[in-house]
Amino acid sequence: MTIIECQDLTKEYLGGETPVKAVDHVSLRFERGEFAAITGPSGSGKSTLLHTLSSLENPTSGTVFYEDKPLSGYNDNQLSILRRRRFGFVFQAYNLVNELTGYENIMLPVMLDRKTPDEKYIEKLIAMLGIEDRLEHLPSALSGGQQQRIAIARALANKPSVLFADEPTGNLDGKSGREVLSLLKYAATEIGVTLILVTHDLHVAEQADRVITIEDGKVVSDSKAAAK
Ligand SMILES: Nc1ncnc2c1ncn2[C@@H]1O[C@H](COP(=O)(O)OP(=O)(O)OP(=O)(O)O)[C@@H](O)[C@H]1O
Ligand SMILES: [Mg+2]
Repeated sequence: MTIIECQDLTKEYLGGETPVKAVDHVSLRFERGEFAAITGPSGSGKSTLLHTLSSLENPTSGTVFYEDKPLSGYNDNQLSILRRRRFGFVFQAYNLVNELTGYENIMLPVMLDRKTPDEKYIEKLIAMLGIEDRLEHLPSALSGGQQQRIAIARALANKPSVLFADEPTGNLDGKSGREVLSLLKYAATEIGVTLILVTHDLHVAEQADRVITIEDGKVVSDSKAAAK
């Protein structure tokens, strides 16, 4: 079953000397629960594709559908509710709040949504990510890998349907990057969240069920389409 889809998605940046088509007529369909990697060279439009798919940026043309509903029909408030409740985000920078402990950072999205936390679920997340003993620490007392694991737990705290990750291991060294990636994959699979992960690292991409390669804003290969 398709969870998120884009049709003819295009994002053009004007303003510079020549306009840049960062995303150029991309059509993709993501199934519920799949783990897809988007890869390609620097500047090929990976981050822009992720931002337009996840409604962080408006496309220039084309449409994104979430559960078959076009996001063009959502107003800004509806989009921010969709992002808060249905989408999780993990970026290269961990973006934790420095004044809050690990646990408080994880709970932030649940609190912002004024929901009663599902403590059993949060406990399970924390155990899966192996951060039980880092919860009382401030981010400054955590390693990069630990901070990213907290950020992953935060992104999953609201039980999103889709987790968007942009170079989540980009700031980590090889070993802790591999650790974080395998925990991310494990947690996403256990929870059943759809994982759409951007990376320029082929070792990271090959962990995915599906690898989509983009160049100059266009899809040049898609292992899923190839398998059909
Ligand atoms: N806000 C912006 N304004 C103007 N041009 C932009 C903007 N954001 C991205 N671009 C341009 O769009 C193209 C795609 O950029 P994007 O950041 O999506 O690439 P990327 O594949 O994520 O690269 P990297 O691997 O280096 O992160 C590039 O040519 C970039 O310069
Ligand atoms: Mg990028």
